[in-house]
Amino acid sequence: METPKARLALTIDERIDEPGNIARVRLRALDGAPLPPFTAGAHLDVHIRDADVDLWRQYSLCSDPAETAFYEIGVLRDPNSRGGSETLHRIVRTGGTLEVEGPKNHFPLNEAAPQSLLFGGGIGVTPMIAMARRLHALGQDFALHYCTRSREVTAFRDALAAAGLADAVVYHHDDDAATRLDLDAVLAEARDGVNVYVCGPQGFMDWVIGRAGAFGIDDACIHREFFSADVDVSGEAFEVVAERSGVTVSVGAEDTIAKALARAGVEVEVKCEEGVCGTCVTDVLDGEIDHRDHFLTADEREDGDQMCVCCSRARGKRLVLDL
Ligand code: FES
Repeated sequence: METPKARLALTIDERIDEPGNIARVRLRALDGAPLPPFTAGAHLDVHIRDADVDLWRQYSLCSDPAETAFYEIGVLRDPNSRGGSETLHRIVRTGGTLEVEGPKNHFPLNEAAPQSLLFGGGIGVTPMIAMARRLHALGQDFALHYCTRSREVTAFRDALAAAGLADAVVYHHDDDAATRLDLDAVLAEARDGVNVYVCGPQGFMDWVIGRAGAFGIDDACIHREFFSADVDVSGEAFEVVAERSGVTVSVGAEDTIAKALARAGVEVEVKCEEGVCGTCVTDVLDGEIDHRDHFLTADEREDGDQMCVCCSRARGKRLVLDL
């Protein structure tokens, strides 16, 4: 499990409203000191608090990993979100403060790959921007395929041009057949050993991952980052034993393990509550897991000794956790 990171209070140095309901938010240390370094693909956990909202959400860093004076994140105002990004959009003001944890990186870049193909759908482009900056600095062979609904809702154009990345970015717009992404054509030209990175809406990710696999790219070379997921946490009721705490709880059909344990006084830290951030990963001592998350790798799932307790369930009647 990842080492817990210290919380930081950062000042909102600038909010830049980009096309497509995206706010680019620049954050600095309150005292102007250098910020903890990060690697391309990293994100911040951002604490969102306002009136009856109190939750944590993950935002990829899109600034240059070589830059320690500030961080930048992109926030999409999504009316269909569960309230996090919409609230953040409303409360973020230049001069305000935000509490964050991190940076953490669950989406690392293989800097040694002979070629990197970055596919960003909508706001999913943010980690790709940091990756593109890094690959550009290293002089590596890469391309960033940035897909949006239309040119009018395409954010970050100025930032990408200012970073000297214009030649490495290929813009694709759904409403323009001339620019629409011909994924098979791109993959057909890929070099041996290519690494593919994808982040965006679920359908977009499934498409890129599926086609990359169909073109024979090894799954270990297909890297994915989920911002959020529609996760079904429901299923048959089962029992969970928190071994070290000596507590046994029942997890109902619409319940989650984390909530059932919290009611019994066994707290497990949760952030995203939809199986994408990895905060709640817990060691499993016994029982078969029904994985519902998008965080653990296929190998980790197969090992069967850890799970995301915010959303995953038991296949059988009982799980024993190292809690
Ligand atoms: S809280 Fe994010 S994966 Fe469980």
